[in-house]
Amino acid sequence: MTIQFKNVFKRYDKKIIFDDLSFQIRAGARILFLGPSGTGKTTLFQLILGFDTVDSGEILIDGEPVNPLLINDLRKKVAYIPQIVELGQGIVKDILDELMSFQANTRLTHWQEKLTALLPKFNLEAHILEQQFSMLSGGEKQRLAIIIAILLEREIFLLDEPTAALDTALKQKITHYFSERTDATLLIISHDVEWRQLDGIKTINLTQ
Ligand SMILES: Nc1ncnc2c1ncn2[C@@H]1O[C@H](COP(=O)(O)OP(=O)(O)O)[C@@H](O)[C@H]1O
Ligand SMILES: [Mg+2]
Repeated sequence: MTIQFKNVFKRYDKKIIFDDLSFQIRAGARILFLGPSGTGKTTLFQLILGFDTVDSGEILIDGEPVNPLLINDLRKKVAYIPQIVELGQGIVKDILDELMSFQANTRLTHWQEKLTALLPKFNLEAHILEQQFSMLSGGEKQRLAIIIAILLEREIFLLDEPTAALDTALKQKITHYFSERTDATLLIISHDVEWRQLDGIKTINLTQ
């Protein structure tokens, strides 16, 4: 999927967030969004996902202006990992079992084996599966959400500050995983230098 912003204008009350913002993201691209706090990085993801709308200009998906059907298609392909992840109440394993039992996910066989292999790649231990999701740290919740997105075979990752609260070794582990995912489209909001080392990564600066 190609995602294009064309002359996008967006404001909240009197505050102009985007003034004539244009860019294009092709399938397989790696984009790092930079900008001080409050410049609209999270808003940009909300616009892509159709959780919010532009005031003028256009968002195009595969060349077509966004509409509910396109947004629906896009959301099925996207892994959106917000700054604060909430997956609800319950034990992690039960949340996963329920998710995987949905009709749309029954094609995903061998997910348990994949899960077992993925946990150590993100420095998580198997016993996390027995814990209450609500008791996990913010960083653990984000990493678990990334793993779930991988299990769901999402191809477009929207990662909002995924490594901000992590130590250097763990930042490197996560960026290493994504550096090898050359099949995926990566949209990352992060000031961590580790992301800049990914092959072919481009930065888009949002300014005030
Ligand atoms: N739904 C909203 N209603 C009003 N103002 C908002 C809303 N969402 C974000 N803002 C404001 O828009 C600006 C950009 O927010 P945000 O996209 O979260 O910035 P960033 O992620 O770059 O820190 C901030 O000033 C924020 O307070
Ligand atoms: Mg933000």
